[in-house]
Amino acid sequence: MEQKETTTKKEIEQRAKTFNGMTAREWTQNSRSVWNDVSSARKSQHLLHGATYPEKLCDRVISMYSKQGDCVLDPFLGTGTTLISALKNNRFGIGIELSKEYFTIAQAAVQNSLNLLSTTSFQIYNGDCEMLLDIVPNDSIQLTLTSPPYADLIHKVVDDRTNRHKNSAFVTENNATTKIYSNNENDLGNMPLEEYKEKVLRIMRKLYTKTKPGGYNVWVAKDFRDIKNNIPYVDLHSAIAECGSNAGFVYHDLIIWDQNEQRSLVLLGYPSVFYVNQNHSYLVIMRRAK
Ligand SMILES: C[S@@+](CC[C@H](N)C(=O)[O-])C[C@H]1O[C@@H](n2cnc3c(N)ncnc32)[C@H](O)[C@@H]1O
Repeated sequence: MEQKETTTKKEIEQRAKTFNGMTAREWTQNSRSVWNDVSSARKSQHLLHGATYPEKLCDRVISMYSKQGDCVLDPFLGTGTTLISALKNNRFGIGIELSKEYFTIAQAAVQNSLNLLSTTSFQIYNGDCEMLLDIVPNDSIQLTLTSPPYADLIHKVVDDRTNRHKNSAFVTENNATTKIYSNNENDLGNMPLEEYKEKVLRIMRKLYTKTKPGGYNVWVAKDFRDIKNNIPYVDLHSAIAECGSNAGFVYHDLIIWDQNEQRSLVLLGYPSVFYVNQNHSYLVIMRRAK
């Protein structure tokens, strides 16, 4: 009993002195560099989108890089997963989504996730995040957590599914339910890679001014192959990290999200060229220096 009380007091002291409210034990337990345990059941709104990430992944990132009462931002909100996790973990949430359809889905899903005990609130905006980030006060965001479109990969996936056989690499290597987000010219999912990188850099510059000194900026992204243009490997996560660095962020860490358990292996390039199945994504962790 005495031991337990001592531990509790120690824990309270530790929580009070850490920037994220974690004890030393939780801090260590969360410091693995490869994650294979963050999949969570897809909710109804996720099935309407086709390119969402799990709430469990958001819960972990939010608990690592922010504390209760902090503000979490997602500039590519999709169905609202980041904000649902932020509110559940007593953080304030700001989300921006370009597509009116997904904005409406996110608004309803986030509203539904609120309960009587919620201590925090949220704001959701519909439009291009490059423009709408101007609304967010400078130096106010502790954590940006987002999964952007992967340039125009989505068009290649959908074309491939329509025009070629359904077992081709693009379809099987990526999520076969993927669909084009919108026809909007500001949609990063409609941009060839060079144009995409220019837009990401402009967004990163704005995110930098909105982030608190010492705050974090986490982008979840997957590398891919552009077989149509004969490019075997597009190192998207490095391109994102480079844009972040050019905007002023420090490239702080890299976490691998191992998705092998959720994706089956497919035969690629057989019998002439050997390719591995890219069944993982990256969490590119950037930080605004203090
Ligand atoms: C990969 S999805 C995000 C999914 C989200 N993490 C979830 O779990 O629902 C990327 C989203 O970015 C949106 N998007 C694309 N370009 C945008 C822009 N310029 N401003 C804001 N949102 C944009 C797309 O409509 C799409 O919903």
